[in-house]
Amino acid sequence: MEHQKILILDFGGQYNQLIARRVREQNVYCDLLPYDMTVEKIREYDPIGIIFTGGPNSVYADNAPNVKKEIFDLGIPVLGICYGCQLIAYKLGGVVTHANTREYGKSEIEYEESPLFDGVDKNNVCWMSHTDYVSKVPEGFSVTATTKTCPAAGFADEKRKIYGIQFHTEVHHTRQGERILHNFLYSVCGAKGDWTMSNFVSEQVANLREKIGDKKVLCAMSGGVDSAVAATLVHKAVGDRLVCVFVDHGLLRKGEADEVVSIFRDGLGMNLIKSDAGERFLNKLKGVSDPEKKRKIIGEEFIKVFEGEAKAIGAVDFLVQGTIYPDVIESGKGASAVIKSHHNVGGLPSVVDFKEILEPLRDLFKDEVRKVGSELGLPDSVVQRQPFPGPGLAVRIMGEVTPERLKTLQDADYILREEIARAGLEREIWQYFAVITSTATVGVMGDSRTYENVIALRAVTSVDAMTADWARIPYDVLEKISTRIVNEVEHANRIVYDITSKPPATIEWE
Ligand code: XMP
Repeated sequence: MEHQKILILDFGGQYNQLIARRVREQNVYCDLLPYDMTVEKIREYDPIGIIFTGGPNSVYADNAPNVKKEIFDLGIPVLGICYGCQLIAYKLGGVVTHANTREYGKSEIEYEESPLFDGVDKNNVCWMSHTDYVSKVPEGFSVTATTKTCPAAGFADEKRKIYGIQFHTEVHHTRQGERILHNFLYSVCGAKGDWTMSNFVSEQVANLREKIGDKKVLCAMSGGVDSAVAATLVHKAVGDRLVCVFVDHGLLRKGEADEVVSIFRDGLGMNLIKSDAGERFLNKLKGVSDPEKKRKIIGEEFIKVFEGEAKAIGAVDFLVQGTIYPDVIESGKGASAVIKSHHNVGGLPSVVDFKEILEPLRDLFKDEVRKVGSELGLPDSVVQRQPFPGPGLAVRIMGEVTPERLKTLQDADYILREEIARAGLEREIWQYFAVITSTATVGVMGDSRTYENVIALRAVTSVDAMTADWARIPYDVLEKISTRIVNEVEHANRIVYDITSKPPATIEWE
């Protein structure tokens, strides 16, 4: 089924994916595509509305991202946000002025009558992040919002349905920002709200059924949200013709491997093969301390184990992958600097004998994937699972991975998770885990001296893992965790809490 679509042209702003998520949240499908899409391609794409995002440039800069003027003659409503609004003004004959200082943060705003601000309080608060501003609107436009620093914080040509806003409606700090976006989508563009996750599930199941027919499908299940939801969707479509291989590298958190089996094999009745490769991985990791070497060994070994299982299954027609929309967007942008070589199952296709890849989630953002998971009946422990690195606990053990250190870490991490859950903090914190450091310190237990490992606790808040802030866990919760770990876990006698944000640190320690 064809959905109504909003086209979001990407001018490189930091909130661009957020704009797309906000549109989707309002049940309207959208794509985030490069700003240089030709007018012909836009016509072919056939959107009900176009959004220009913000971006880091000035419209006057050399090679500033630009659009063809004909885009405004397509008869398709346009909403320009921040740089997008400056570009509208610049292209259509208004004036954009350089300011001496950047305006960043909350700002008081006054809205005038406009379909865009229907139902929005006149005196309000918006979120600004800009240097240049529109000082004179183009002919045919009227000013629809003002702030102290922006004489045209909003402007519109209601006849042609072209709107500019200097502020960021997608950021929660803009009060009633959702309403503004809703007005654009529903009143201006005539959206019907045909993008819902229950529709998505029924359409995908029908599509997958038709595509797969009576053929065989293979999936590498990691226990992570994306592969779990992708597999469950395919399972709903073709049942036992899907075979899932779950490689247990022994570096998962305490209880996690059993949970995967109990949910997917015992609960959902999936054809799930669990490969117990813990010993094999530990042998390979013997004597290895360098984090990148660990990652490489685990990545390579993972592929070998998976390959072995796949060979036993025999030729399959399809391979399922849990690719999601941010992966698709990122891969279109060229390589950014490699800080850590993330290991996922991306290396599989060349080693498995199959004809085609299925990526049923490639149009979805993470929050949509979670909704689909819940729609399919997966428990919160799966759909709300925090991100977990492919190489598992190996990168949370500083120095060599030994069975003893692995056990100490698993036990400490388990207590941390239990206490965070007990304090009701799971949803507030993006990721929380324990790290076993490479330092031993002296302690005293009863009347004896101890010389044991320092365990570090790491907990961060984040929206996308690109930046992160250390979580302000209440002292009494930290105290409980610390006391329990030193009392209950073997080979740990000191607990420290990591209070570094990203940047300059990373979320993981290795
Ligand atoms: P950093 O530590 O770079 O992590 O701030 C950002 C996010 O990526 C996860 N991470 C990994 N994920 N393989 C993965 O699949 C890896 O090797 C890996 N290293 C880090 C990390 O948990 C965080 O969510």
